[in-house]
Amino acid sequence: MKQEAITASAPGKIILFGEHFVVKGTRSIASAITRRVYVTIVPRNDDVIRIESPEANVYENIPLTKLQSKSEVLAPLTGMLKYIRDKYTVKLKPATIKVKSELPIGAGLGSSAAFSAAFALAYFNYIDLNYNKSLIHEISMIGEKIAHGNPSGIDTTMAVYGGSIVYKRGQEPVRVDLKLPSDYMLIIANTGVERSTREVVEHVLNRASRTWSASSKIYEAADSLIDLAIEAFNKGNMKLLGELMDLNQGLLYAVGASSEVIERILWTARYYGGLGAKLTGAGWGGSVIVLVSRKNSEKVMRGLLSTGARDVFGVTLGAPGVRLEV
Ligand code: PMV
Repeated sequence: MKQEAITASAPGKIILFGEHFVVKGTRSIASAITRRVYVTIVPRNDDVIRIESPEANVYENIPLTKLQSKSEVLAPLTGMLKYIRDKYTVKLKPATIKVKSELPIGAGLGSSAAFSAAFALAYFNYIDLNYNKSLIHEISMIGEKIAHGNPSGIDTTMAVYGGSIVYKRGQEPVRVDLKLPSDYMLIIANTGVERSTREVVEHVLNRASRTWSASSKIYEAADSLIDLAIEAFNKGNMKLLGELMDLNQGLLYAVGASSEVIERILWTARYYGGLGAKLTGAGWGGSVIVLVSRKNSEKVMRGLLSTGARDVFGVTLGAPGVRLEV
């Protein structure tokens, strides 16, 4: 019987509070967003894994016998395939892997974790092995570790489980229901500056270790923001939520994650009426999030575009995690 193509998808995420600090064990708040990465596995009959990713501009044939790629961006994929082969002692099956990303790539929105999770789910179905979500999480983490070095695991947790969470490294994520009052929204804007999460994380960690007697207080402050942010969400206090986002941004600036282009975009958003604004993800570029009242949203979006930001869109929080598409 001819095997059918299998498609799985996983969501991107935003970190609302606590990126970077989370790497050293403080709490953070993250939410899965409605934009997703889709991975389709199409069966083939040779000994090749072919990857076709138009958004990343990657088209490559990887021989199953070698599992080595010319392109560094494919290292997570070959790493996951080797892990599946060795851990489950299975014969890997050749396939064409077609990727379609609704998320800008390298923009702090978790596109690499979403790819890893969607690939893991689609490929496990393709090779017909038993799995559960925790296994998909384990495989995706292999991909994320190769992509990012020392990831906190927040992106992978969001891609696999979806929803909104308070996340602390090494602990079960605590699910939270994050709702904005209907007359408010969050906007994402991409600075258009690509950067390596690994490099920013290393820079921030190095600064923290050189200055720990002072910067430990910044990490403590970042952790305290989490309780205030949950309270602001629960009470629908958007003025406070915006203020906390600005405060979090100040802490991120202090530890070295911001950049001139980020600050310019954030200040533009505030100038046009944003209630609060911060980078999301690793920083030095990537994406920012802005809290606005709906009546100001058009103005803020136009302002963001006028500073050179791209992919400016409103975001819905709490999207579902990795799933098969039928
Ligand atoms: O830029 P992203 O989407 O990879 O997010 C990185 C988030 C950090 O907190 C900076 C690193 C991590 O592993 O949590």
